Amino acid sequence: MIKSLRGMNDIMSEDYQRFTHFIETATSIAKRYGYHFIETPLLEETALFKRSVGDSSDIVSKEMYQFIDKGDNDVCLRPEGTAGVVRAFVQKKLDKAGGIHRFFYHGPMFRYERPQKGRLREFHQFGVESFGVESVYEDASIIMMVSDILNALGIGYRLQLNSLGCSECMPPYRQNLVNFVKSVKDRVCEDCIRRLETNPIRVLDCKNPTCQTIYRDAPKLISSLCKNCDDDFTTLKKILKDNDINYEIDTNLVRGLDYYSKTAFEFVSDNIGSQSAIAGGGRYDRLVEFLDGKATPAVGFAIGIERLLELIEMPQNQREGYYMGALDEEAIDLVVKLTQSKRKTHKVTLDYKAKNLQKHLKAADKADAKFCCVIGSNELNNDTIWVKNLQEKTEEIIKIEDF
Ligand code: HAM
Repeated sequence: MIKSLRGMNDIMSEDYQRFTHFIETATSIAKRYGYHFIETPLLEETALFKRSVGDSSDIVSKEMYQFIDKGDNDVCLRPEGTAGVVRAFVQKKLDKAGGIHRFFYHGPMFRYERPQKGRLREFHQFGVESFGVESVYEDASIIMMVSDILNALGIGYRLQLNSLGCSECMPPYRQNLVNFVKSVKDRVCEDCIRRLETNPIRVLDCKNPTCQTIYRDAPKLISSLCKNCDDDFTTLKKILKDNDINYEIDTNLVRGLDYYSKTAFEFVSDNIGSQSAIAGGGRYDRLVEFLDGKATPAVGFAIGIERLLELIEMPQNQREGYYMGALDEEAIDLVVKLTQSKRKTHKVTLDYKAKNLQKHLKAADKADAKFCCVIGSNELNNDTIWVKNLQEKTEEIIKIEDF
C-alpha cells in the first residue's frame, strides 16, 4: 500500500471541519482589519529564501525541499509565506507605487524537519503581511488581530514579545554578544561556536540547557536599544496594555528567520506539548530592499494551523439543509429531480438507494441535515413528500408543488 510521506498528513473529517472553521474565522477577521487575499506559488526560486529567510537559518541550511527542475532552475517548495508575498509585492511594483498594502494568505508550507507531534514536513499557515506603515501602531494592530483570531476560536495563549533593534543598535549589540560568547566558549555547545561565524544572535535561541543557563547572564539587546527602537517598544507595550493584551517580555526571543528588526513576537500555548509556538511574526523593514525593491516598512505574522486544530472550540452543531431519500425504487428518479432543484439554494444530502424510513432518518441525522425528506409509493400516488424537521422534531406531508 502506498502511504503518505512522513510528516505529511491528510486533513479529513473532524479535522477538516476544524480546519475550515479556522480559515473562515481568520479570513473574516483579517478582512475586518482591511487585508486582501493573495495567493503565491508553492514553488519559488531557491535564491528567494536564501536571501530573505537567510543562508544561515536552519530553514534554509537544513530544511528546504530543494531540487533542480527540468529547465535546470534551482527551485524549492516554500518553507514559509512572507518571502513569496514580498517577491510578489516587488514584482508588481507596489513598492514604487507607494501607499499601504495589506495581504493575507493561507496554504501549505514545507520544511524537511524531524517529524514529531506538532512538527510536520507539510503544514499549513494563515498569515498576513502589511506594507507601507512605519508606525508601531501597525505592529500592535497585527498582534491584536492574532489575539482576536485565537479568542474567536476559544484558544488560550501567552504572548511573548521582544525587540530586535535596527541597523543602528543591532551591530554594536551583536559585537557585545560575540565578546560574551567568546568569554564562555569552553562551556557552550559546538552549534553556538558555529553560530558565532554565521549568525551570532541565534545563540540566544539555543535549546541546549547548559547554553540556556549561560546566556541568562548574556548582555540583553533590550537594554541596548537606540532611542527610536526603545521609544517604539515602549509605545507598543502601552498600546497592548491599553487594549487588555497581556504579554511577557522574552529577551531571548530572536525568531528562526533572519529578516526581522524591531518588534518580534510569538504566541505560545501551554496545552500542545513541546512544539508550543502557535503563531509568530514581527517587523521586517529591510526585506523589501533585500529583494531589490524600494525600502518599505513591513510587518506580519503567520499562525500554524495544525498546531491549533485540537484546541479549536467548534460552535454548537447547527443542522443545515435537507436529506433526501426514496422508500421504494420507483420513487428514486423523482427524489433525484427534487434534489437537483433544491440544490440551487440549499445543501442537500442524497441517498440513491431505496431504504426503510428508520435507515433514512439515521442517515439524515448523521449528515446533520435539518430536514429528512422521503418519498415512497404512497407519496408518489398522492404527489406528496414526507418531511421531518429534525431540529424541532415535527413532521408533515407536503404537496410536491409546494416543496
Ligand atoms: P514561523 O515562526 O517560522 O514564522 O512559523 C509560524 C508558525 O508556523 C509557527 O509559530 C508554528 O505554529 C507553525 N510552524 C512552523 N513550522 C512548523 C512545522 N514544521 N510543523 C507545524 N507547524 C509549524 C514564519 O513562517 C514567518 N513567515 C511569519 C511571519 C509572517 N513573519 C512576518 N510575517
